[in-house]
Amino acid sequence: MSHFSKKEKIIENYGIDKGKRSNQFKSRLYSEPRWDPSWKKFRDMEWETFSKLEVAEKIPLFTKNNRLYDCLFAQQFDRELLDRLCRVADKLREITKTSAGDRFVTNLLFDKRAILVFNQPSSRTFLSFQNACHILGMKTSEIRDVSTSSFAKGESPLDSIRTFASYVHLMIMRMKEDGFVEQSAWHLNSKTNRPIPIINAGSGTDQHPTQALLDIYTMTRLLDGGIDGKNIVMVGDLKRGRTVRSLSYLMKNYSGVKITYVSPEEFRVGLDILEFLRKHRINYTETYDFESAIRDADVIYMTRIQDEYDKNGESKKVDYSKYYFKPEHLKIIKPTCIIMHPLPRRNEIDPKVDFDERAVYWRQERNGMWIRAALISYIFNIDHKIMVYKVGV
Ligand code: CP
Repeated sequence: MSHFSKKEKIIENYGIDKGKRSNQFKSRLYSEPRWDPSWKKFRDMEWETFSKLEVAEKIPLFTKNNRLYDCLFAQQFDRELLDRLCRVADKLREITKTSAGDRFVTNLLFDKRAILVFNQPSSRTFLSFQNACHILGMKTSEIRDVSTSSFAKGESPLDSIRTFASYVHLMIMRMKEDGFVEQSAWHLNSKTNRPIPIINAGSGTDQHPTQALLDIYTMTRLLDGGIDGKNIVMVGDLKRGRTVRSLSYLMKNYSGVKITYVSPEEFRVGLDILEFLRKHRINYTETYDFESAIRDADVIYMTRIQDEYDKNGESKKVDYSKYYFKPEHLKIIKPTCIIMHPLPRRNEIDPKVDFDERAVYWRQERNGMWIRAALISYIFNIDHKIMVYKVGV
């Protein structure tokens, strides 16, 4: 005869009250807390339909509890959020100068893990994201060569993404295929029960929103009076340079900005960007005349030729040397102008220019780590803890 009641036996067998267990199981199936209610309407929408929506129509699927969840497009940022992230990045720098502050920050996300999935080369985006995670206490894993993953065994790319997402709380992705980072976020949020936030660390020729964030952070820190009213001259391969695209989108958040695009005919900025600028009444001009354009610049944003996207070696036919910044150009630019570059560079900026205090690209790449840490803290809703931390108390 059993000494246990039926209910006690069930608890003994399962280690949990069966009634509670079944409720927990149901709640996991039917009220998945990782979901935002606004995502429901996307559940039956296939990628072919979703991908053709306007960005503004897509953004709700990448927003949770009215906060940015997946960071995919520069159009997701408004002025309030940009200013907030710059303040959080500044505060992180300040706090981590002391060991007490550093300990506080590394405890903020000690229980979270991130994976970096990069199928394109990267130095600064990879390392700055990895170190941004470590600053906040997150552990990281990485896939840098997808031929070592089960992609190589014929697993579908979306099944692979789902697998990577199974082990972590955040995925940071750089992909050579336009749109695949967005498709991954669409898939996790609308077709699985285990979405995690995804950050776009560069997708094809499409966008590089966190590069644009660090560019904004650099300008905000270094330009007297901030970005409003400034003349920003963007130079180089503007057709295929994703950093220029994302930065142009962010300019809608600043008033009185003028953008001057300087490029060879073959690499003029995309018509979709120009249409966006017209729609948002942002003043812009296009020119081939590098020397005239840089004289009045507040920011000179140099970029390299993106020949990895060549179809038939077309870059070799273009004379890019007219778009190089040389030491003699330092004499003709404004004393307050800053020279930026998302890096890596080739010949667009002579290394002798590095010694001029207006050359800020090495500071710019380091700013990337802090603004990316600020972004991750915002996504995990701990940015307010950073802002209220009292340094030296
Ligand atoms: N600016 C940038 O994206 O650099 P990496 O390619 O080195 O990451």
